[in-house]
Amino acid sequence: MTVQIITIDGPSGSGKGTLAAKLANHYGFHLLDSGALYRLLGLSLHHKNLLDDLDTCLSECVEAAIQINIKFETKNDSTIILLDGEDVTQTIRTERVGEFASKVAAIPELRTALFERQRAFIQLPGLVADGRDMATAIFPEAQAKIYLTASAESRAERRVKQLQGMGLDVKISDILANIQSRDKRDMERTVAPLRPAVDAFQIDSSNLSIDEVFQLMVNYVDQCIKA
Ligand code: DC
Repeated sequence: MTVQIITIDGPSGSGKGTLAAKLANHYGFHLLDSGALYRLLGLSLHHKNLLDDLDTCLSECVEAAIQINIKFETKNDSTIILLDGEDVTQTIRTERVGEFASKVAAIPELRTALFERQRAFIQLPGLVADGRDMATAIFPEAQAKIYLTASAESRAERRVKQLQGMGLDVKISDILANIQSRDKRDMERTVAPLRPAVDAFQIDSSNLSIDEVFQLMVNYVDQCIKA
């Protein structure tokens, strides 16, 4: 039996995480949040005081990436993320850890170190993989490839609501500047830059509700999975 793979790539705040979880639930598939892996690695290297010396301590960082001790535990429909046994579910969603992740993600050797860990998520009956290079680098064989984007402004507004919902006090101008600089870094890096796969189904969610985007995705995925 073939494992069905659905990839969703796109910039941060486009709604990928929510939609990937909804699709995984709809099809009964496993879920890979690859951004969480980069966030976890960023946090782990920060804990080890290696983040400011990525170039000089590269082999140590690669080893740390290969050995990283992480666990995704699903309880009552929500997932708890553990790093070295500590619950970091909320911590890894902060802007600060997002910056750590973006630094880590620009290093080709660290991306390679996370390759097998991501491929290990290929399990029956299927997988929904959410990230930046899911279709272009990690799962090029995916049956359904979606590229989800939205304007930087609408993504900043959504991020502010999300962070405020977590009780954090944030300014939209700071969030917008962060999103723009992270987009630039993600799109301009030489290894696995953020871009749609040639055969990706592209959706701009700026003016669409989650339910509208979900419906577009299901219509597309149903055709790919049947084909
Ligand atoms: O999706 P996110 O905001 O949780 O991702 C955090 C960072 O990791 C972001 O800067 C992009 C990077 N990333 C990546 O380079 N490749 C992936 N497959 C997923 C995330």
